Amino acid sequence: MPKIKIVPAILSPNPKTVNRDLKEIERYSDLLQIDIMDNVFVPNKTPQAEQLKILDTKIPLDIHLMVREPSREYLMSFIKANSKLKINNITVHYEACSSIKKTLGFIKKNNIKAGVAISPKTPLGKIKNLLDLVDVVLIMTVEPGFSGQGFIENALKKVTELRKLKPKMDIEVDGGINPHTASLAAKAGANMFVANSYIFKAKDKVKAIKKLRAVVE
Ligand code: DX5
Repeated sequence: MPKIKIVPAILSPNPKTVNRDLKEIERYSDLLQIDIMDNVFVPNKTPQAEQLKILDTKIPLDIHLMVREPSREYLMSFIKANSKLKINNITVHYEACSSIKKTLGFIKKNNIKAGVAISPKTPLGKIKNLLDLVDVVLIMTVEPGFSGQGFIENALKKVTELRKLKPKMDIEVDGGINPHTASLAAKAGANMFVANSYIFKAKDKVKAIKKLRAVVE
C-alpha cells in the first residue's frame, strides 16, 4: 500500500489570509491541492495560474485542473507561474481532454507527475488504458465544481476495483471528505485524501488534519 497523503485543497484563496493558513498546516500536510475551474468543464470559475503567484508555501502542489482541453500553453502557465513552488503533480480530467495521452505525456515531459481524474458517472473502464501512463488516479467523490457537497459513496466501488488492479498506485479521493468518509475510502483502498471544507472550516485546522490522518493510517 502506498504512503498515506493528507491533501488540503484550496479553490479561490484569499490573498490576505492564505499564506498564514498554509504556514499553520504546512508541517501536517503532504500535498496542497489547487482546484482550478474554467466555467466550461464545470459551472464554476476560480482564478487561474495567477493564483499560484500569491502563494508562499513549502507544501508541494497537486494541481487539479477542472478545465476543458487544457493546452500546452495553458499547462505551462502553471509550471512557470511561481518558481519558488514545487509542483508534485498536475491532474487532468479524462472527460475534458480529447487527446488525453498527449496531455499526460506533456506533463511528464516537464518532470511533473501526471494524474487522471474521473467524475462520479465515469466508469473506471474508460481509463484502464491510461493506468501505466499516470502516477495518480483521482476518483471524484462529488461532481466536480464546488466544495461543500455530499460524498458519493458509490464512487468507492471504483477505488476497490482500481486497488485490486494497482496495489502500489496513488489513488486519491476528493469531495465530501471528513473522518467518516475518509475511513470508508481508506477501507476501499484510497491512500490520498483531499479535503477543503472539513479542514478550512474547522476552528483548529491542525487538529482536523490530525483527526483525518488518525482514521486512515
Ligand atoms: C471539486 C472540488 C472539491 C474540493 C473539495 O468540486 O475539487 O472537491 O476540492 O471540497 P470539499 O472537501 O469541501 O468537498
